[in-house]
Amino acid sequence: MKNIKLFDPVVEKTEINAVVKTIKSKKWASGDGKNQVFKFEEKFRKFVNSKACVAVNSGTSALHLAASLCDIKNKEVILPSLSFVSTAHAVIYNGGIPVFADIDPETLCINVEDVKRKISKKTKCIIPVHFGGMPAEIKKLQKLKSNLMVIEDAAHACGAKIDGKMIGSGGDFVCFSYHPVKNLAMPAGGSITINHKNYKKMELDLKSKRWCGISDRIGSDYDVDKIGWNFYMNELSASIGLSQLKKLNKLNKKRKKIAKIYHRELNVPRKMPFLANCSYHLYWICVKNRDSFRKKLFDKGIETGIHYKPIHKMSFYKKSIELPITEEIGKSIVTIPMHPNLNDSDVDKVIRIINKFV
Ligand SMILES: Cc1ncc(COP(=O)(O)O)c(C=O)c1O
Repeated sequence: MKNIKLFDPVVEKTEINAVVKTIKSKKWASGDGKNQVFKFEEKFRKFVNSKACVAVNSGTSALHLAASLCDIKNKEVILPSLSFVSTAHAVIYNGGIPVFADIDPETLCINVEDVKRKISKKTKCIIPVHFGGMPAEIKKLQKLKSNLMVIEDAAHACGAKIDGKMIGSGGDFVCFSYHPVKNLAMPAGGSITINHKNYKKMELDLKSKRWCGISDRIGSDYDVDKIGWNFYMNELSASIGLSQLKKLNKLNKKRKKIAKIYHRELNVPRKMPFLANCSYHLYWICVKNRDSFRKKLFDKGIETGIHYKPIHKMSFYKKSIELPITEEIGKSIVTIPMHPNLNDSDVDKVIRIINKFV
């Protein structure tokens, strides 16, 4: 019996040919982002319609660098606890203080009313997560306080839209991940799209920070005028990304089709809503007796996951705060197979088995 995978990147001849070509070119990496990386940045910038795009080596690095533009040292940053831990790490990397807010029970994105309650004099920034590709309420968040910076964690939201416009086209700082399980898959990668009024300066700043702080390079001569990291994207990732980008809309359409069927057919007490603007990086349901439920699915060859154990439950971040919806969802959420390689009979089987054991 072939397992039905939870996540599974689409690999076709185009990706394989792109990798072979890049390997043969022997141009595998360059700190100043020439060749495929530059091409990817340009194409992705046009795809989302942002003013600038800086490619990096992961979504974590994208968040780290975006937060470095927001002057958050000793300031509070409000974020959801139901996310991958990188969302919070980006705050710590930059000397900020994470403040966790609860989530909306329908979308599992950050709850605007709870953010309002948590805003203080020290609040500098909010990092909403487009959870599973479901658009967070960015416009409402932007209006909560003057001079508030908003960094969108769009790791799940490649190709998702807000009010019909691509996520990345409007927000000041939007961070994408191209981890192999993501909608646009690479071995490793991420990017920051920028629409801030100082986007040109910020783009240059991040291009320097992603390569150890190197600036003003002419030939072999260069200066280092700030601390930076080795965060640049490699050429192999970029060449795969260019191929994935061409088919992203098609792949997302397939994800949406599956989500629509799951939403219609699954008899579970709580499940991810259906929304045409969502990119459906994942599909979640909530169940009681999660461990035994997951084991039953595993025995039937269906992989599942938990996205996520809330960050404030991790020992590094442990805090006795009350986040009732996050706690409830954190105990019961299960992610079920969602990727464009699922065929009709896989989807039928997932639905049949879930409805039997829930
Ligand atoms: C919500 C969220 N933010 C950030 C990241 C970090 O991305 P990466 O794994 O590319 O560093 C992830 C990746 O899993 C994520 O799911």
